[in-house]
Amino acid sequence: MARKLHLARLLCAFMLLQGVLAASAQRVHPLFEYETRSLTEETLQQLIGKTGVVNDGGVFTFDDGKNADPNPLRKGACKAFPGDAGWPAQHTWNAFNKLLDGALIKTVPVGAPCYENLGVYDAEKCAAIQLAVNFARNANLRLVIKNTGHCYLGKSSGAGALSVWTHNLKNLKYYPHLEIPEYSGPAMKVGAGVTVREVYAEAHRNDSVGYAGGYIAGGGHTPLSGLYGMAADHVMALEVVTADGRFITASPESNTDLYWALRGGGGSTFGVITSLIIRVHPKLPVVTSTFIINTSATVTADAFWQAMHAYFSLFIPFTDAGTYSWFTLSAPSPGSYTFSMHPFFAPNHTLSTFDTLTKPFFDRLRELNIPVSPNTTYHPSYYPAYNATWGSDRILNGAGRVSVPGNRLLPRINWSDPARFNATFAAIRRLSESGRVLRGYHQAPRNRAGADNAVNSAFREVVCFLILSGRFPDGADANHPTPADLRAASEDLRRNVIAPLRAVAPESEGGGAYLNEANVDEPEWQRAFYGVHYERLLEIKRKRDPKGVFYATTAVGSEGWEVRDGEQGVQTQNGRLCRV
Ligand SMILES: Cc1cc2nc3c(=O)[nH]c(=O)nc-3n(C[C@H](O)[C@H](O)[C@H](O)COP(=O)(O)OP(=O)(O)OC[C@H]3O[C@@H](n4cnc5c(N)ncnc54)[C@H](O)[C@@H]3O)c2cc1C
Ligand SMILES: *[C@@H]1O[C@H](CO)[C@@H](O)[C@H](O)[C@H]1NC(C)=O
Ligand SMILES: *[C@@H]1O[C@H](CO)[C@@H](O)[C@H](O)[C@H]1NC(C)=O
Ligand SMILES: *[C@@H]1O[C@H](CO)[C@@H](O)[C@H](O)[C@H]1NC(C)=O
Ligand SMILES: *[C@@H]1O[C@H](CO)[C@@H](O)[C@H](O)[C@H]1NC(C)=O
Ligand SMILES: *[C@@H]1O[C@H](CO)[C@@H](O)[C@H](O)[C@H]1NC(C)=O
Ligand SMILES: *[C@@H]1O[C@H](CO)[C@@H](O)[C@H](O)[C@H]1NC(C)=O
Ligand SMILES: *[C@@H]1O[C@H](CO)[C@@H](O)[C@H](O)[C@H]1NC(C)=O
Repeated sequence: MARKLHLARLLCAFMLLQGVLAASAQRVHPLFEYETRSLTEETLQQLIGKTGVVNDGGVFTFDDGKNADPNPLRKGACKAFPGDAGWPAQHTWNAFNKLLDGALIKTVPVGAPCYENLGVYDAEKCAAIQLAVNFARNANLRLVIKNTGHCYLGKSSGAGALSVWTHNLKNLKYYPHLEIPEYSGPAMKVGAGVTVREVYAEAHRNDSVGYAGGYIAGGGHTPLSGLYGMAADHVMALEVVTADGRFITASPESNTDLYWALRGGGGSTFGVITSLIIRVHPKLPVVTSTFIINTSATVTADAFWQAMHAYFSLFIPFTDAGTYSWFTLSAPSPGSYTFSMHPFFAPNHTLSTFDTLTKPFFDRLRELNIPVSPNTTYHPSYYPAYNATWGSDRILNGAGRVSVPGNRLLPRINWSDPARFNATFAAIRRLSESGRVLRGYHQAPRNRAGADNAVNSAFREVVCFLILSGRFPDGADANHPTPADLRAASEDLRRNVIAPLRAVAPESEGGGAYLNEANVDEPEWQRAFYGVHYERLLEIKRKRDPKGVFYATTAVGSEGWEVRDGEQGVQTQNGRLCRV
């Protein structure tokens, strides 16, 4: 959909502020170098003096509660858009760029510059992030936080917005023994731009297992979820720039409301995370297994579905044993089916415990005369197992195609009762028989760490997580869908895919959806994405960001805003952001 955003003028700010900024007040948590030079009233004045910039209308100033709100709580009031009278004048942008030491990027078209080598990588500075928040708030600009840009829902993009790009905050540090008030033990401090893979690799080099990533704000499920729960359950503290422009620590000791909300309550709505501290775990062995089951001349569709019934019916013992699987169930042609396991992931298992666990399934395949040649491999530790299965990202080659995805978290209760299980399985089978591709997991990120955070309550119940897409009408070009095609796919997803899954697993009974891999037009997303936590999250949002500096579609508090994007077929970010 990026091509639809060509009108937008998105500005990526690489934070390149140098020299002038003084060290921040003493803190109990270790800071990265870029976090030690934070913006204060004093350093702001020094910076303004040094650059000779005029602080026009106080656009670079902190929010002390007395500043006028340029976007008052008035129905229909919009954030400034390029071309508006209220859009900052060129000299103000020049001043901002000067304060950032030339780190501002004018992007045409949107998105593209973030993938080009512009020669200013790894130069972001925390103080500049604060300046961007101040400027966006005071000048009534839409502010977007973007890391990798992987968001399924377009939460990291926005027409006419100032974008803070965190992708280059790559600092990563391992502590064999970290002593902070809330925690004592092995940990890692992770910059906001570090990828999950980089965390795993560094932890491996230091003989442990890391458990983090930029996805943590939304909760973060991983192949270790069965043993350790969600990634967010292991965050000990976060460094954050808040809506008033200040740089703070959120931990069990300070800013506890944000500490709670930032672990599961979703990205881009409570502040800009510059880094976080996660607990690490000792190395453990992993067994992985990949296999394919097909219908064929000798395997009927009926036998195939009996095999699937056997596989799905084992999700309770599988999750109780701490395992996880990631699979694709597809129907290449009517009546023919393929089930591809890539991989079954069994942390802390040996080949022998894995065989015992999966024996009922493989025995059933033999009874049904279904051939299968699993590649079951023992890995002495986590990183080689991850690297051999996900490491190359080889199964994630969907780039270029447009799809309208959605997901559903199905709770354990639908498995524990045989009649309920059969009805649930029948709903899944019907979706596959109608020709849809189902990508799914068995996993149960129970809260074994006892964390008190905002992770969607549905994750604590789940045993099966399914991701599906809406179908384009016949004749549509899936690479270049029209707004009508997108609308049709979105309606198909809602009516024919998510509704039947919601019917078998309603929110009231522990069902829900994962906000990070969701349908942007999910109805009643508050309940689906945030479970029982939404009201508390909204209260924190209102208190911490009363002026609505941070917005992202389906983020906490976003029901107060709309993106006027015209007729796009699905909700996009290509339009003015206005209060409803
Ligand atoms: C191929 C693929 C595989 C995936 N696999 C998994 C998986 O196994 N487990 C899982 O849990 N999820 C998975 N996801 C979903 C993933 O968690 C989300 O796409 C997530 O939003 C990525 O975060 P990001 O910061 O990299 O992306 P972005 O699109 O840059 O950001 C996502 C959201 O977070 C906000 N944000 C980013 N950085 C910050 C920051 N520093 N401070 C505050 N807000 C910020 C953005 O504004 C936006 O709202 C997968 C996604 C893809 C595309
Ligand atoms: C962690 O591993 C990296 C890479 O091998 C190494 O440079 C670093 O010194 C290690 N840290 C500790 C504390 O052992
Ligand atoms: C399954 O079918 C696919 C194509 O439909 C084929 O490429 C693959 O070899 C088959 N695998 C097995 C194990 O039969
Ligand atoms: C891994 O297994 C061992 C023994 O089999 C057990 O003592 C340990 O607690 C397990 N680790 C986790 C994280 O479950
Ligand atoms: C990771 O996988 C690549 C191949 O995809 C391999 O070359 C490399 O050695 C692997 N690294 C580890 C630590 O297993
Ligand atoms: C089996 O899987 C392992 C990784 O898990 C891989 O290294 C190996 O090449 C695979 N073997 C075959 C025959 O595909
Ligand atoms: C569930 O389905 C299985 C397989 O089709 C069947 O054997 C079993 O009797 C069903 N159980 C109930 C309670 O319907
Ligand atoms: C799944 O379980 C929920 C909660 O008990 C129930 O409301 C729902 O009807 C079940 N689904 C089926 C298909 O039985």
